[in-house]
Amino acid sequence: MKKVMILTGPAGDAQGWGDMEVTRQLCDTLNTAGKAAEIVYIENRQSFKDAIENRFYDIIWSALYHISSKADIVGLNEDDGMWIADILDSREIPYIGPNARTMKQLIQKNLTHAVLQHNHVPVPQNFTVDIGGKNPEPVYPVFVKPSCESRSVGISDDSVANTPEDLEKAINYIHTEFEQPALVEEYLPGDEYTVLMLSNGRNQEFLPGIVKVDASHYGKYPILRSDLRGVGLTKIYRPATRRKESIELAGQAVEALNCLDHVRVDMRVAADGQLKIIEVNGIPGLKPVKSWSPQIYSLYHASPGGEMAEYHRLVHLIVESGFSRYGI
Ligand SMILES: Nc1ncnc2c1ncn2[C@@H]1O[C@H](COP(=O)(O)OP(=O)(O)OP(=O)(O)O)[C@@H](O)[C@H]1O
Ligand SMILES: [Mg+2]
Repeated sequence: MKKVMILTGPAGDAQGWGDMEVTRQLCDTLNTAGKAAEIVYIENRQSFKDAIENRFYDIIWSALYHISSKADIVGLNEDDGMWIADILDSREIPYIGPNARTMKQLIQKNLTHAVLQHNHVPVPQNFTVDIGGKNPEPVYPVFVKPSCESRSVGISDDSVANTPEDLEKAINYIHTEFEQPALVEEYLPGDEYTVLMLSNGRNQEFLPGIVKVDASHYGKYPILRSDLRGVGLTKIYRPATRRKESIELAGQAVEALNCLDHVRVDMRVAADGQLKIIEVNGIPGLKPVKSWSPQIYSLYHASPGGEMAEYHRLVHLIVESGFSRYGI
């Protein structure tokens, strides 16, 4: 029986696929069809070390980029500078998802942009402003967000800045509230797409979705504010336009960043009509059946068993992608 050790911790919801309830559902889903899974709750470096050294498992699946006690935000990895994937790589332990180098590039959106720009993959014009750093002189409007968060944490209508005064305020908010660099991007006013990447090599699939929210929920700007996320207000549909373009763009990003098993590539349309990547999620949400990955998967892989059967297939497929890379 192939065994999956699922890692989560206080930061599992902020950094990973969802809260403890989601993790339990993932685990239950895996405890069928010839696999076994258990959850290990990681609170510090010692509990992580104990888990990887003393338990039996064939592969690890982590909801954590780094060990953190912060339940609300991802934050910077500053306490001990260790990343889960770094430790697993150094010990040659198999795990699901991209390697350590990629994981670090994905959770820091400024680094994702740098890699993509270097590979000529379109991203918004962007500037990183460190705490104490000098504000840029961009073309307005711009979008100001934390460089290392998820779930639209820190994002509201105030994220859009139209003047140097707005910009100053938005950057200060990120620095004081989240203690991390602020990412200042070209504001992308158009439609939002998200492309699910599953599996690797010949089996790799790119499934595009367009994200819609009833316009009555928007404030001043059509952006996915934090209060619109995780509450069932964002719905994903098969895109009627830009289907091929979004798949191509996601493919370029995945190649440039060496993504594996399961990532989700978020993109938006710029003022001039060009589709640009805003971020690549290294540990996409897996709440059945509300998170975007299960929603998209169901759009393309309908099963007579319904949404939960589709969720079951998605979860097994992600884990099998990991197993097959390692020949497990
Ligand atoms: N440059 C931009 N222009 C316009 N809107 C933006 C821009 N960047 C982000 N947004 C809006 O803010 C939302 C959250 O941004 P982003 O996807 O970068 O962060 P996130 O919090 O990591 O999201 P996720 O929950 O997908 O991990 C986007 O879904 C989008 O609606
Ligand atoms: Mg996003």
